[in-house]
Amino acid sequence: MTKRALITGITGQDGSYLAEMLLAKGYEVHGLIRRASTFNTVRIDHLYQDRHEPDARMFLHYGDLADGARLVTLLAQVQPDEVYNLAAQSHVRVSFEEPEHTGNTTGMGATRLLEAVRMTGLHCRYYQASSSEMFGASPPPQNELTPFYPRSPYGAAKVYAYWLTKNYREAYGFFAVNGILFNHESPRRGETFVTRKISRAVARIRAGLDDVVYLGNIDTVRDWGYAPEYVEGMWRMLQADEPDDYVLATGNSCTVRDFMITAFEHAGLDWEKHVRFDEQYLRPTEVDALIGDASKATGRLGWKATVHADELARIMVDADIEALEHAGSSWIDAPRVDGWVAAPAAR
Ligand code: NAP
Ligand code: GDD
Repeated sequence: MTKRALITGITGQDGSYLAEMLLAKGYEVHGLIRRASTFNTVRIDHLYQDRHEPDARMFLHYGDLADGARLVTLLAQVQPDEVYNLAAQSHVRVSFEEPEHTGNTTGMGATRLLEAVRMTGLHCRYYQASSSEMFGASPPPQNELTPFYPRSPYGAAKVYAYWLTKNYREAYGFFAVNGILFNHESPRRGETFVTRKISRAVARIRAGLDDVVYLGNIDTVRDWGYAPEYVEGMWRMLQADEPDDYVLATGNSCTVRDFMITAFEHAGLDWEKHVRFDEQYLRPTEVDALIGDASKATGRLGWKATVHADELARIMVDADIEALEHAGSSWIDAPRVDGWVAAPAAR
């Protein structure tokens, strides 16, 4: 029997890799997409087949996590075996600018989706994209037993969604799990997250298109892994015999500074000539150090990260250099996105 999955956030970094992986495993994949005035499906265009093709197995549906009634009609129509809730306003710095919107999407969105599952009476398995950002000020190493101490509206919204997921498991017997994922990156990472901002800047500086990149706090520590490995972990959580919550992480630490040095050196550039500080990129409250302990996922799911920060930096720089070399003038001339908002608006 072909399994059917519904992915919210299918147009994002993780959604695109998850869709790719599930299609390769033989699933029928349904994705929730937001209507936009421009195309926002660039990360999944390579997977798309017209629905009239006999072998089409990926289908996209308009909807929004802010629209609970739509989630009910969609679940009733699709009847998925597995639901992956990846949609969110996922940028920590932006969540300080838009705390209400972030709460509505990242927090309440999960409630609306869980309620939609309950109201339709489906016996599907549910994955909630929880985050290491929930640990916030709790010192590393962090695992499933570490207390939450969120340091941003985004982190607080994720804590709410985490507990709702756990509550629906306990109250209604849902097969609902929280994947508490530490930072994971890739060439498909949004351009305003720090790793991609750096790899993209390195490619542009190397090509002579830019001379400097502005960053905020480069002393923070993160545990950066490779996104394609993390979506495999999400899937494994839903194949387990019992629902439970799991941390996914590499267990290695890296500062933004070290990631940046590796990225610049890989392209033969001296970072000190090209990196400037801009306080605009500081956060009102920062998460100083996230280093995960994924031994529970390794022991029970057989999941282990193999790509660590240095290799990741090189993968991302190589991909951005190649993208730039193969891009037409439209990509090169496009407005430069050098922060957590597009540069023209930020200036
Ligand atoms: P991402 O690239 O920012 O993608 C977010 C997705 O959510 C996009 O598809 C976006 O659609 C969609 N979305 C946003 N608001 C929505 C709404 N109101 N209704 C429906 N869809 C909406 O994020 P990601 O890096 O793939 O992360 C996936 C999930 O994992 C997120 O929940 C994130 O918070 C969480 N997470 C990520 C990491 C990480 O390091 N990447 C770590 C821990 C947890 P558009 O394309 O239309 O904007
Ligand atoms: N974005 C950004 N831009 N971050 C910067 C910059 C900059 O110019 N300069 C320094 N940083 C620092 C941030 O202050 C933070 O300490 C670190 O780089 C990482 O920032 P992001 O790449 O924006 O990621 P994040 O750790 O805040 O959040 C990501 O990981 C979470 C999991 O821990 C996001 O993917 C979240 O959605 C995810 O939940």
